[in-house]
Amino acid sequence: MINFEFEKYTNINVKKICYEDYNDYLIRIKDAHSFYDLDELFEERLISKMSNLAKKIKDDNGVLVVVGIGGSYLGSKALIDALSGYFDDKGVYYAGNSLSSDYLHDLIEELKDKNVYLNVISKSGTTLEVSTAFNVLKNYVNKNKIIITSDAGSPLHTLAKENECEFLEIPKTIGGRFSVFTPVGLFPLIYAGINVMELKRGAMDAISNKDDIIKYAQVRDEFFKVQKPVEAYVCYEPKLYIFLKWISQLYGETLGKNKNGILPMTILNTRDLHSLGQFIQEGSPILFQTVFKVVKSKNDITSMNKSVSSLNSIACDATLKAHFSGDISSNLIEIDKIDEYHMGYLMQFFMLSCYYSSYIQGVNPFNQPGVEAYKKEIKEML
Ligand code: PA5
Repeated sequence: MINFEFEKYTNINVKKICYEDYNDYLIRIKDAHSFYDLDELFEERLISKMSNLAKKIKDDNGVLVVVGIGGSYLGSKALIDALSGYFDDKGVYYAGNSLSSDYLHDLIEELKDKNVYLNVISKSGTTLEVSTAFNVLKNYVNKNKIIITSDAGSPLHTLAKENECEFLEIPKTIGGRFSVFTPVGLFPLIYAGINVMELKRGAMDAISNKDDIIKYAQVRDEFFKVQKPVEAYVCYEPKLYIFLKWISQLYGETLGKNKNGILPMTILNTRDLHSLGQFIQEGSPILFQTVFKVVKSKNDITSMNKSVSSLNSIACDATLKAHFSGDISSNLIEIDKIDEYHMGYLMQFFMLSCYYSSYIQGVNPFNQPGVEAYKKEIKEML
């Protein structure tokens, strides 16, 4: 179960929900972009193709290096972190999400004695960070151990055909940050042993929660109107931190346009209470928060005669109260437990609500023209 609390710790009045609007908006998504058509995305043949591929790698004692950045990286990383034990070795490595030469060098050292498979993921097939890492790493693997995930017709697709590499297609109408439930996210997740059909079950249930999907978009809009241009996404469970980064990308890249939009930031408590906590309580009152509270830990430990889980819970409630008394508002999202169902629900919830925000803001949710500016400068310098 997931409980959305938009009123307890905020002074914002949510406008009357308009369902006609929601239906109209779902039709618009369906027509233009199929990211919410889950039956198509989790289609049996595709899932079994990816499962067989993952099994082949496992049977061969292979590790998987996921080469991707932005929307081609954060979704699977967020879910693998959230759904694994803190020190589990899932056999998944990442590359292509920076231009760090030291990182690439150390990764190659780390992989030296391993049976390496590469999953190169890029919708455009032309991203500099991904091409750079792939160009180096491909020298360490056989062609038959390269799996390419890209758009049909992209330069990477051509390369896959020329070299007879396995190819997983990204549906044309689904953009990077909305692509977690396509092979971009699903293949690394299946390899990591995540139950993707449970993700789908959660995501399906999220679609019918129109009240909260609309409310969250409206609440954000109201905050922006009362001079709160920053939203801090806050968690109290470290394994959710990359999930917050995924949400930040989703909202930042989708809505930060036309000199407008709310700046997302990420906070991991209680760690950051000992650093940013001061600013949030008493600094410039420019932000509101969206706080994720996990109700049940998987394993509760006792310390000083107290359950550590309940200490974490108390810290979350107390901080919400203290912030609210300091006039800092928070949305609260209570999640029963962290599992595939709940994570699938949350991701679909945020993709749908973010799309709804773009509808309110009147911006195209699927482009990111601002990102092209720096790429153009790099090209010229090269
Ligand atoms: O959301 C987006 O579209 C971007 O963040 C992209 O995912 C990112 O730039 C990587 O692009 P590509 O998949 O084309 O390599």
